[in-house]
Amino acid sequence: MLLPEGVLINGLTGEVSPDTGKYTKRLSELREVFQDRAELDRMVATEGDPVVYEVIEYKKEGSDLFFGTTTMEAGNVGGEYFMTRGHFHQRRDMGEVYYTQSGHGVLLLESRDGETRVVRMEPGVCAFIPPDWAHRSINVGTEKLVFVWVCNVEAGHDYGDILKRGMRKVVVDRDGADVIVDNPRYAA
Ligand code: F6R
Ligand code: ZN
Repeated sequence: MLLPEGVLINGLTGEVSPDTGKYTKRLSELREVFQDRAELDRMVATEGDPVVYEVIEYKKEGSDLFFGTTTMEAGNVGGEYFMTRGHFHQRRDMGEVYYTQSGHGVLLLESRDGETRVVRMEPGVCAFIPPDWAHRSINVGTEKLVFVWVCNVEAGHDYGDILKRGMRKVVVDRDGADVIVDNPRYAA
């Protein structure tokens, strides 16, 4: 029988206690995600392949739900802010919740028929991600962006579409402000 449990989440570091698994994504693993690959290669070579984000989860065998944190470092590649890979869920009937704990981000969402929506990720904002909307989080601040996500264990990830063609919009730094512009590399 599954037993209830309180899980401590540190909203500044993303630490989950107890956790059941974690992974990090470094810049070199996100080469397809960013526009300026020459700059990315330069950063990997000269800056020691920085961590872009870490995901820590709490997942109990036999449960319908699981949750965890994503902690994103601040940074950019040629002006394009650090971001996650972005994905649809394999299960088109399953959405997600992102609850921002600290930092400043942009949650970029795209429907199957190409509509773009943005939800600002600020401490206290709980974002509703409807089923079948691709979602990518982007750290547009100067500190870590930490958010808690909650999802059905069967939702799954479909990275293929977004990796191949990108999302329709990208978020870039223009004189210290984050602006959302058309993705010049978008391949319909
Ligand atoms: C799970 C979810 C998050 C992301 C995480 C990393 O459905 O949306 O846990 O998986 O923020 O982002 P991706 O998976 O897009 O690299
Ligand atoms: Zn998701």
